[in-house]
Amino acid sequence: MPSDDDLMKKLVSLCKRLGFVFPSGDIYGGLQSAWDYGPLGVELKRNIEAAWWDAMVRTRENVFGVDTAIITHPDTWKASGHVEHFHDPLVDCLDCKARWRADQTADGRCPDCGGRLTEPRDFGLMFRTHMGAVEDEAAVVYLRPETCQSIFTNFRNITNALRPRLPFGVAQIGKAFRNEITARNFVFRSREFEQMEMEFFCRGEEAPRWMEYWISERLSWYGSIGIRSGNLRLREHSKEELAHYAAGCTDIEYAFPFSPGGFGELEGIANRTDFDLRAHMAVSGQNLEYIDQAGNEKLIPHVVETSGGVGRTFLAVLLDAYFEDVIEGRDRVVLRLAPALAPVKIAVLPLSRKLEEGAARVASMLRPRWKVDFDVTGSIGKRYRRQDETGTPYCVTFDFDSLEDSAVTIRERDSLAQVRVSLDRLVEAFRDLFDKGWGAVAG
Ligand code: GAP
Repeated sequence: MPSDDDLMKKLVSLCKRLGFVFPSGDIYGGLQSAWDYGPLGVELKRNIEAAWWDAMVRTRENVFGVDTAIITHPDTWKASGHVEHFHDPLVDCLDCKARWRADQTADGRCPDCGGRLTEPRDFGLMFRTHMGAVEDEAAVVYLRPETCQSIFTNFRNITNALRPRLPFGVAQIGKAFRNEITARNFVFRSREFEQMEMEFFCRGEEAPRWMEYWISERLSWYGSIGIRSGNLRLREHSKEELAHYAAGCTDIEYAFPFSPGGFGELEGIANRTDFDLRAHMAVSGQNLEYIDQAGNEKLIPHVVETSGGVGRTFLAVLLDAYFEDVIEGRDRVVLRLAPALAPVKIAVLPLSRKLEEGAARVASMLRPRWKVDFDVTGSIGKRYRRQDETGTPYCVTFDFDSLEDSAVTIRERDSLAQVRVSLDRLVEAFRDLFDKGWGAVAG
């Protein structure tokens, strides 16, 4: 396996070459810290989001989804504390022009070149824009820096619409924007990114128990999408580190190769108490109390939040799946992605161009159910390696015997094991493969 530095370089280059992730505005030299997901990347990203939505919303009786606007009412961020707290003092180096957070330059000299620094200045992390034709202060709106606040501002709409019983959750996947001072490490820290957040409303005295529950659920979710447990760890925030709204927070961290100390944040699970609902009540003047079903108790629920990043999960999944090995005397790169996440599920490969027509019929049998690639160019060995590098779990080879026996060979990416399956059983075989794994058809 490559060293940590090499691994990141190789992965970033693989992402561009195969069409997972491109630098945004590439032909203009790239827009620093913005990334575009390519044809393979968007499939992987959507599969991650679908796995999260299935686990957090679809399969749960008491968690509901929303999809709210990115442009947000400015009062939202007064109430949340972002206008007051969401900025860092910055200093610039007078010699090399590098920019630093003031707390990173404790001895008053540039960490890069030892040069003199400017006085600290505040740097707002929210993206501001104007709504409507006139660009004055009254027209200022913000692109949301986190998705959760619109869940709080919709709290009354949601409870009026659904009359849910406590405890219940509201979840959302969507874009967030932060004018990060130093955006770096590929999609790990960008200025435009996506979050997967769930706010779980419960009684205050039950919040510590729900914290434990959600930490354990979220940790096992990362396992369920194939991330090795040895590369994950939990880290509880110290009191000094806690955000202004949190009574407790535990991060799920991944062994990102560039992270100081070997691990970096994937997701935070926080006990936000009743801070947000109370703050929105104070600023909006609206009543956001919850009235229980019997109508005899009013309370402000507390919130346990699970807040993860799509980009960071995407990167962790790729890092975890990246392997270099040697098969049949040749080097190969293989992405051992969980089949549910793989951007292409099945590749259909005719052994010769003469077999293209029959193979195309096989691809059309499979396409209504799965994302199928059809590849006729190059030797069969090269085509297998291309699919291995893409993370495709299964290849179907249509050979000259297929014309006689109406059967094809399925090859499994990781073990390289092969099995012959008749065409009239092929769809069923793949259903079994995706549900139960290789053992279900190989035996
Ligand atoms: N609502 C709470 C909240 O937003 P956060 O720790 O600031 O908490 C939650 O962000 C998650 O969002 C992080 O764990 C990370 O996965 C993702 N995230 C935050 N900033 C990011 C950035 N600049 N680029 C990519 N992902 C980011």
